[in-house]
Amino acid sequence: MAPFFRLAIATVISAAAFVSAAPVNQSKSSPVLQKRSGASVVTRCTIPSTVAITFDDGPFLYTNGLLDILKSRAVKATFFFNGNNYGRIEDFAASVKRAYQDGHQVASHAWDHRDLPSLSQSEALGEMTMLEEAFREIIGVRPTYMRPPFGSLNGPVLEMLGERNYTAVTWDMDTQDWAHPTDFDASYKLYETLFNNPEEIKQPGHIVLQHEVHQVTALQVVPMAIDLALVRGYKVVTVGECLGDPRSNWYTV
Ligand SMILES: *[C@@H]1O[C@H](CO)[C@@H](O)[C@H](O)[C@H]1NC(C)=O
Ligand SMILES: *[C@@H]1O[C@H](CO)[C@@H](O)[C@H](O)[C@H]1NC(C)=O
Ligand SMILES: [Zn+2]
Repeated sequence: MAPFFRLAIATVISAAAFVSAAPVNQSKSSPVLQKRSGASVVTRCTIPSTVAITFDDGPFLYTNGLLDILKSRAVKATFFFNGNNYGRIEDFAASVKRAYQDGHQVASHAWDHRDLPSLSQSEALGEMTMLEEAFREIIGVRPTYMRPPFGSLNGPVLEMLGERNYTAVTWDMDTQDWAHPTDFDASYKLYETLFNNPEEIKQPGHIVLQHEVHQVTALQVVPMAIDLALVRGYKVVTVGECLGDPRSNWYTV
């Protein structure tokens, strides 16, 4: 991500949520900005009338069906893939590759879903680099966007992520599908409340947390939510797009 864009992102950080070891210097004239090491944390879109639906914990059994659903509606989403969680990434390499080729945003959810702040620095780094290696083998590049497992971050982890040029993405809307994986209404209700409020579309968009490892989420809630979003005039886009960050910044070598 270009330094100037990082500045723009930094302004939408929910600064209260996390404490970074290095304070963010938002002075535009400061050359310090380009070298600042703590990763930016994004919790919400900046562009109105967008919604970024994000899928954690895959790839797994429903990734491919979900990709069919997204394709049939010509919308894009963001996948925060693990290396080893419900499935192993090499077993679902074709789905990961397809997500990338279909134009979705492929991003990192770290190797095996451990709580990064509880690890040693070298273990936390390994959680990121092991998955980078797997991504390079499967799609030829590695992502620059990541979501920390459990949304859990601290100063040293943000420092490490910043050194590897990551933007950390949390969320501002949580369906809590993991807590009620078979309850369609409990997840869908949240989308209805959001999209049926006519004032909402003028606001900066939302980053919605979902887990694609649950069949009801992937194959039932998501298509209904997308259809409602489209009817109400929303653009269903990736996290990068809902921040105005071009695709060329989503990956690096
Ligand atoms: C932030 O940048 C300004 C302008 O370059 C500089 O004067 C100030 O010392 C910096 N603050 C920090 C905390 O780095
Ligand atoms: C981070 O980005 C800088 C500037 O583009 C580059 O020099 C550095 O090698 C990158 N670091 C990693 C770990 O990719
Ligand atoms: Zn997760």
